[in-house]
Amino acid sequence: RHTMAAAGPSHGHGDRRTAAPSVDLTTLHGPRTGIPDRTFTLTAAETAIKLTSGAPVAAWTFNAQVPGPELRVKQGDLVEVTLVNRLPKEGVTLHWHGLDVPNAEDGVAGLTQDAVRPGGTHIYRFRADRAGTYWYHTHQASSTAVVRGLFGAIVVERAEQAREEFDTVVMSHAWPVGDEPRPAFGAADTLTRKAVQPGTAVRLRLVNTGNNTVSDAEATTFALTGTPYRVAAIDGGEVREPGELRNLRLSLATGGRYDLTFTMPNGPVYLADLAAPGKGLLLSPDGTGTPETPVLSGDFDPAQYGRPAPTPFDASSRFDRQFTIVASDGVGFVDGSLDLIQAFNGRLYPDVPMQMVRKGDLVKMTLINRSRDNHPMHLHGHHALVMSANGRAVTGSPWWIDTLDLPPGTWFEIGFRADNPGLWMDHCHNLDHAAAGMLMHLGYE
Ligand code: C2O
Ligand code: CU
Repeated sequence: RHTMAAAGPSHGHGDRRTAAPSVDLTTLHGPRTGIPDRTFTLTAAETAIKLTSGAPVAAWTFNAQVPGPELRVKQGDLVEVTLVNRLPKEGVTLHWHGLDVPNAEDGVAGLTQDAVRPGGTHIYRFRADRAGTYWYHTHQASSTAVVRGLFGAIVVERAEQAREEFDTVVMSHAWPVGDEPRPAFGAADTLTRKAVQPGTAVRLRLVNTGNNTVSDAEATTFALTGTPYRVAAIDGGEVREPGELRNLRLSLATGGRYDLTFTMPNGPVYLADLAAPGKGLLLSPDGTGTPETPVLSGDFDPAQYGRPAPTPFDASSRFDRQFTIVASDGVGFVDGSLDLIQAFNGRLYPDVPMQMVRKGDLVKMTLINRSRDNHPMHLHGHHALVMSANGRAVTGSPWWIDTLDLPPGTWFEIGFRADNPGLWMDHCHNLDHAAAGMLMHLGYE
């Protein structure tokens, strides 16, 4: 992998270049001392699994299962995770997707640590400050290793708040079988049936772990039938007063999360992934029933959902830094041969300039997609507020994201406070696009 040094600062900042660094180096790692509230060990290894379709997959697994074990912690917990690598020859790391951990715990090979070699171990320590649904995955050769199974969920439960009686993570994943990835619902290519009593409070934590390389489905699209429901949280952040929804397409960015809540009705409820017909999750009082084909009447729009509230800044604020990122495609050279390239501002990593900030800066990014493909943008280490979508202000609940899908022809203004020093990735979470160069860095002076 390329190292940081290859990227270089983007442009001059006049005399700010010579100013003292804004970062206290001792804040770059998690708490080194203190007894952890929760400890986990995740062991990466190769495991032969069989999808329910019968297709064999030489999976890479954490603790011999896919998804890896679900890590459940309480908000405020000091979490310690030991990564053990027993893969035959590949390196591995753990990245905590959506958790704004200190930089040295972020698990990006070649940037915040070296990949852990076969036989090696690495200990991650961080405080789980923000409640919500997150996931972990390796960040070494991610475009091949995540799709093969090196991922799992991490759920941070609110310290004082009872969880829903039926609370489960649903990961939508695409498996590589033969040369082509195939869509599968959950990790098992299956229809899962569960018995849930009427009146039960349900929370389904949807995570899109796929790579968007399957068919032409641009983003994983879920649909929930059989009950009205609410989108209670987006990327881990609770939505304020989410209204009741029905019969909508729920397009979820690759890497993104939606938490759906509802009260179990008397009849069956079916959660479908529209890219994997017949697969999904079926809840019913006796655990039987057949999935119905969802009839959908519109698209869920987070920009207009929930109740507005004052935000710490908005599009009219004075920003210390502003960056514009244009995603485009075209013909170019990749590794010496002519290919279709997906680029940021016409450049491929490591030639995409690093975005430089100082600690405390209020930063605005304008993200524009002029290409023909979706680009789910993921900024590490920070949560950003979506301020406008396609020129229109966000009118719903404050919309905080760590992963934002950019469909073709769209543009968004997002803002964040630079409050987590270090060197961070900012990339397309279609990991094939990232591997081909759709990747840049955010750095603190
Ligand atoms: Cu979920 Cu840089 O990754
Ligand atoms: Cu992309």
